[in-house]
Amino acid sequence: MEEANGRNQTPIIQFILLGFGNVRELQPLLFLLFLVFYIVTVVGNTLIIILVVIDHHLHIPMYYLLGNLSTLETCYTSTILPRLLVSLATGDRTISFKGCIVQLYCFGVMSATECLLLTAMSYDRYVAICNPLRYAALMNGRVCAKLVAGSWISSLVGCGIVHVFLSHLTFCESNEIDHYFCDFSPLINLSCDNTQILQLVTFIISAIGTLVPCLLTLTSYICIIVTILRIPSSTGRKKAFSTCSSHLIVVTVFYGTLITIYVVPTANSPKVLNKVFSVFYTVLTPMINPVIYSLRNKEVNESLRKILGKTMSLEEW
Ligand SMILES: *[C@@H]1O[C@H](CO)[C@@H](O)[C@H](O)[C@H]1NC(C)=O
Repeated sequence: MEEANGRNQTPIIQFILLGFGNVRELQPLLFLLFLVFYIVTVVGNTLIIILVVIDHHLHIPMYYLLGNLSTLETCYTSTILPRLLVSLATGDRTISFKGCIVQLYCFGVMSATECLLLTAMSYDRYVAICNPLRYAALMNGRVCAKLVAGSWISSLVGCGIVHVFLSHLTFCESNEIDHYFCDFSPLINLSCDNTQILQLVTFIISAIGTLVPCLLTLTSYICIIVTILRIPSSTGRKKAFSTCSSHLIVVTVFYGTLITIYVVPTANSPKVLNKVFSVFYTVLTPMINPVIYSLRNKEVNESLRKILGKTMSLEEW
């Protein structure tokens, strides 16, 4: 097979993820740190899913979407952190070629879906605040299910196209990936094929996939803010704003990290800075969403208290 490519180097079938370097003393500390991150993320998001499923007050599109976002984020961190934890604990840093490609694909699909779900959530807030009379017609369970399905399907297809190109690459330069998971650019850099077309296709797909949702979200929020500013009473303004403030924070954090990573030039900056930035979007973003919602959103907060109160009183009983 390799001969057909006109190369006689042995193809690489396994990679080494260099992770956070080789400092022995640092590994247990990093292990504990990421273990705590992982547990907080999974517990927090699971709690949100439970609340959305069992509390009738939360059976509206806004919280259906939130429940779906939490489900997604649990899976999202699970594509990266468990493997990192195992490698920090055992010191085994290898990952098979297949494993690497699968990790990259899952990670790509989930980031794209997250972006689209956040857009669906801002559309929901847009309709609720700027077009309240038509809310029931424009945003109901059926529309919501379609938006969720649409987000998943378009991400699967978009990443699938890139995946087809990727799985045909041969790697022969080196098998050391200087990162803690199989991310696109570190992996591409190791290929000995011409990756220009792949890079162009990926660039176009990801530019469309992030710019369009970003612009839609921005437009929704401009309309929302203009509408809120027009509300005459300050209590009315506060009330309208409180239903979208948690989402606005989550969106700002998401695009904030995205923009920092892709716009701020990191080519010449030390690799470690790159990894630290990656930790922000792979680990911290999924972790803070439940925190923001349970602290700032009144309905989620009340629902949480009710459930915790019930569990407490059951225990006393
Ligand atoms: C995800 O969205 C669907 C469609 O609106 C909804 O029926 C389902 O309950 C949501 N899932 C969660 C965990 O909230």
